[in-house]
Amino acid sequence: MTLDQYSTAHGKYTVEHLESTRAAKLPPLNVFRAVLGELLELTEKHVDLLDCGCGTGFFARQYARLPGVSVTGIDLDALLLNAARELARQEGLPIHFELSDITALPFPDESFDAVTSDILLEIFPDKTLPIGEMTRVCKPGGRILCIEPNYQSTVYYDPRLSPEDNQLWCEYHRLGRAFGAGVELPDVMRRVGLEDIQLVPWLWGGLGSSGVVPTETFLREQNAGLERGLELGVLSQKEADAYRALFRRTAALRGEALVLSGIDLYLVCGRKSKASV
Ligand SMILES: C[S@@+](CC[C@H](N)C(=O)[O-])C[C@H]1O[C@@H](n2cnc3c(N)ncnc32)[C@H](O)[C@@H]1O
Repeated sequence: MTLDQYSTAHGKYTVEHLESTRAAKLPPLNVFRAVLGELLELTEKHVDLLDCGCGTGFFARQYARLPGVSVTGIDLDALLLNAARELARQEGLPIHFELSDITALPFPDESFDAVTSDILLEIFPDKTLPIGEMTRVCKPGGRILCIEPNYQSTVYYDPRLSPEDNQLWCEYHRLGRAFGAGVELPDVMRRVGLEDIQLVPWLWGGLGSSGVVPTETFLREQNAGLERGLELGVLSQKEADAYRALFRRTAALRGEALVLSGIDLYLVCGRKSKASV
């Protein structure tokens, strides 16, 4: 099991975590939505879109704001879906949410004009099954859009830290994670017969204030990550001690600074052939 799979299996995804990390790291959202609209080739036509692994519905709400788009969101986690319903209601967005599994979608073939998934496929060692299922429920000529991280490229730069510590932070963010969406997703999409594959990189992160997360929360979250790494054996005790010391040095920094931190997120979009796939 990798860290990515472990995180989901153990319910790491709280409403607060999903909502705050998306809101802090994806903006500018108006530009992000414009890119989604371009990839989905939205026209005047009404579009029924299925968003898989929607969690609290952060991405589903972005899709629902695009003109002419009606959204259904599915997820395996009933608590996250309850939060998703409430958040969509508060924002006045008529999104329909259902409890279901991306590997066995409860919809007939060719039900939707577009099918999306966001930060979900990384947990599947073989992405053919979920992408195949997304393709099954998509209409011929419709779009499949997957948004996933590329763990080979991370950036971390805090001007108050030494170059070695900044480097260590980059390594920490890649720890136990191997998925490279930029290469793997187009490859699987081609294998399931999707056409016209487009890839748009987006920096998930950017320049932000170091003071956003309180020191105690910061240390608790980072140290919990180390415990998971030790449990999974992706990290030795010596490495864990080095990271623990790094977190202490980072937490001890005085004042606020602008820190550049992020990971490449790839928006990979393919089209289901008009002939049968
Ligand atoms: C990293 S979270 C992403 C949530 C949301 N897409 C976002 O980015 O804010 C992964 C989500 O996938 C859901 N999930 C995991 N396995 C799933 C499956 N087999 N079918 C549907 N959802 C699944 C989890 O419950 C969780 O909400």
